[in-house]
Amino acid sequence: MDPTLDFINSQRVPWTILLFLLNLLLPSEGCGVGRPRVNPTSLLVRYGDPASATCSTPFHVDLIGWEAAVGAKEEPQTQQLVWGVTSVSNWSLGDGVTCFTSSEEHGRCETHLPITIYKIPNRVTMSLLYPPEAPLIEGRIYTLDCEIQNVVPLSSLSIRWFKGDEELDISQKSRFLKRTLDKANVRTDINASREDHEASYSCAAHLDLNTTEPIPDTRSNSIQWKVLYKPRVLNASGDVFLCTKDKMELTCLGEANPMPSYQWRHQGVALAGENETTLVIESVNGSHNGLYECLIRNTEGDVTVSIRVSVKGGNVTLHILFKAT
Ligand SMILES: *[C@@H]1O[C@H](CO)[C@@H](O)[C@H](O)[C@H]1NC(C)=O
Ligand SMILES: *[C@@H]1O[C@H](CO)[C@@H](O)[C@H](O)[C@H]1NC(C)=O
Ligand SMILES: *[C@@H]1O[C@H](CO)[C@@H](O)[C@H](O)[C@H]1NC(C)=O
Ligand SMILES: *[C@@H]1O[C@H](CO)[C@@H](O)[C@H](O)[C@H]1NC(C)=O
Ligand SMILES: *[C@@H]1O[C@H](CO)[C@@H](O)[C@H](O)[C@H]1NC(C)=O
Ligand SMILES: *[C@@H]1O[C@H](CO)[C@@H](O)[C@H](O)[C@H]1NC(C)=O
Ligand SMILES: *[C@@H]1O[C@H](CO)[C@@H](O)[C@H](O)[C@H]1NC(C)=O
Repeated sequence: MDPTLDFINSQRVPWTILLFLLNLLLPSEGCGVGRPRVNPTSLLVRYGDPASATCSTPFHVDLIGWEAAVGAKEEPQTQQLVWGVTSVSNWSLGDGVTCFTSSEEHGRCETHLPITIYKIPNRVTMSLLYPPEAPLIEGRIYTLDCEIQNVVPLSSLSIRWFKGDEELDISQKSRFLKRTLDKANVRTDINASREDHEASYSCAAHLDLNTTEPIPDTRSNSIQWKVLYKPRVLNASGDVFLCTKDKMELTCLGEANPMPSYQWRHQGVALAGENETTLVIESVNGSHNGLYECLIRNTEGDVTVSIRVSVKGGNVTLHILFKAT
């Protein structure tokens, strides 16, 4: 027979002492109700802010104390002990602190107080990963970079992207690129469009933590860029019906960056010098019948507007009319 069991079986050792020995072997496991209470049960504290917690026990203990990277202390013969620091400025506190008691009844008992330290970024910077002076071209993909300096914890960081004051629905496409001790870079791609021309883009760092007051987002600088895009038709005349000697005025207005040029054509032939948004003929005759086209063009492309002109009393009709009589 095992000599220890033999020793226990002989019942010369009281059970309380046995429990005490067990407690020594398993410091907190065997504590149960003997475990000290810590209030609050967890701490979420901003870097640099004060923090404190109270540890108490309903039992008489020989010693109560706090194990902590900063503010460690212990006191004999008391049932309550406050741990506190005026400024949480040592990241080691992010491992939490531990209150312990030591008594004959329960042995050594401890309760861990988890601490989450957060830090609002010093700076958030938005940039376009492209030579910033060069204009973007519509339909091409460009990368936006949002750099966040000195933010903790990264696991609670998310990025919001803005165009003006409107939040863009591209956050889920964001990717964390670089995570160093003092910097995080988050990137996303945009497909440049004419709506982005001279729009103001920014990003904001958002810390999603269970604080009583929501943590304000840290907004970046705003950047604006130019986008080159081909013309689109803003306004144009519809088909026109005129009488001989009427004034004809055709309009075609395009929008583009850079500013587009115009060229009017009649029946496929370019009309020399007709480079304005309007084409005016003071007095029409049958020779002005037919298809007019307005070609709006810039470096990015072109668009053509077609306008059909019918002149009543034109030469063909008149010719037939006179022949018939
Ligand atoms: C933070 O606390 C640890 C553990 O007590 C200590 O070694 C370290 O020097 C402290 N760091 C600072 C910056 O005070
Ligand atoms: C960018 O957007 C344009 C217009 O919506 C589209 O035609 C083009 O395919 C897009 N480019 C990419 C790479 O998705
Ligand atoms: C957030 O904090 C409140 C009070 O501080 C607590 O009741 C709640 O359980 C916490 N929620 C989460 C998800 O941690
Ligand atoms: C197009 O131009 C005409 C004449 O200038 C104007 O009456 C009309 O409102 C314009 N249409 C649009 C959509 O701008
Ligand atoms: C009119 O436009 C045509 C074609 O874009 C161009 O060749 C011509 O030089 C322009 N004329 C003037 C006077 O701008
Ligand atoms: C029609 O008008 C044009 C000028 O716009 C003129 O050169 C031409 O001779 C006219 N034709 C006839 C048949 O009147
Ligand atoms: C009208 O007559 C002129 C010559 O007088 C001719 O050049 C033109 O093509 C004619 N127009 C049509 C629509 O037939």
